[in-house]
Amino acid sequence: MTTAAVSVGLKLGVVGKGGVGKTTVSGLLARSYSGRGSRVVAIDTDSNPNLGLSLGLSLADTEAVPVLPRAALVGTGGGPSAEALITDFGRPTPAGPTLLSAIRVSEAGAGCTCSGHATVRSLLADALADVDVTLVDMEAGLEHLSRSGGTLAYADVLLVVCEPTRKSVLTAVRTAALAEELGIPHVLAVGNKARSSEDAEFLADALGTEGIELVGVLPYDAGVAERDRAGSVGLTQVSGDVQAVLDGILGAVDNLLDARATHNAALRTAPDSAHLPGA
Ligand SMILES: Nc1ncnc2c1ncn2[C@@H]1O[C@H](COP(=O)(O)OP(=O)(O)OP(=O)(O)O)[C@@H](O)[C@H]1O
Ligand SMILES: [Mg+2]
Repeated sequence: MTTAAVSVGLKLGVVGKGGVGKTTVSGLLARSYSGRGSRVVAIDTDSNPNLGLSLGLSLADTEAVPVLPRAALVGTGGGPSAEALITDFGRPTPAGPTLLSAIRVSEAGAGCTCSGHATVRSLLADALADVDVTLVDMEAGLEHLSRSGGTLAYADVLLVVCEPTRKSVLTAVRTAALAEELGIPHVLAVGNKARSSEDAEFLADALGTEGIELVGVLPYDAGVAERDRAGSVGLTQVSGDVQAVLDGILGAVDNLLDARATHNAALRTAPDSAHLPGA
C-alpha cells in the first residue's frame, strides 16, 4: 500500500559508503514517490552513472541520457531555469521519475567534476517549480559534503544508506557531522542488505548510540545480486514486505516535514515576545 502524497518541493540526498546500495535504494524510493502520484526528478551524480538501470532503462538508454552542462548555474544571471534544464536534459523512465544525469567521466584526464557538482547544487538551491520530490543519488564518500559549498547544502533530508557493518555506520556518523556543519536539517539512516534480525538489531543499536534515527531496513535479496551479475538490473516486482519498508521510509520523511511545517507556522503566528529570552 502506498501512502498519500504530501511532499511538495522535497529535496532528498541519498548518501553513504561505497557499494552499500545507494543507487538501488534511490531507484526504489524514487519509484515509490512516483507510485503515490508525486512528480519526481531523480539526479544521478555518479561519474559512472547507473541510476537509469535501477529506474528500468536499458544500458543503452541510460548511456544516452544527456549530461547536464557542467557550469550551468541555475537561477543566476544568464543561467538556465531549473525547468528548462529538466525539459532539455531530463529523460522519462519506466519507473516514473524523470532522470537527470549530472556528471559523467568518459574521457581520461578530462579534469575534475567540480563544475558538475556546482550545477546540482544550484539546481537544489533554486525552487524546482512543480516538482514534488527531487532525489539525488550521490557518488560514494564524503567529498560532496566537503566540496566548496557542499553539493547537497540545499537538501532538506539526507538518507544515509548503511549495510550492517561498522564501517558503513562510521560513514553515517561522519556524514551526520558534516551535514550539521552545512546546515542540512535532517539525517536519517536506511539499512540495506540485512540478512537476519541480528543485522537489523546491529544497525539500530550502532546508529542509535550515535543519535542517528534508523527509519527502515531493507533485506538482502539474492535476486538483486543475481540480476546485477546477469546485467539486467531493470524494474522488478517489489514484494509487499519490501514495499512496506519503503512506505515506512516515505512516512518518516513526511513526519519530519509535517513537524517542520507546524514549527514554522507556529513561529510565524507567535507574538514577538515569544522570541524573547525567557518568554
Ligand atoms: N538489498 C540488496 N540485496 C542484495 N544485493 C544488493 C542489495 N542492494 C544492493 N545490492 C547490490 O549491491 C551492489 C551495490 O549496489 P549499488 O550500486 O546500489 O550501491 P551504491 O552504494 O550505489 O554503489 P556505489 O558506491 O558504487 O555508487 C550491487 O551489486 C547491487 O546489486
Ligand atoms: Mg551508486
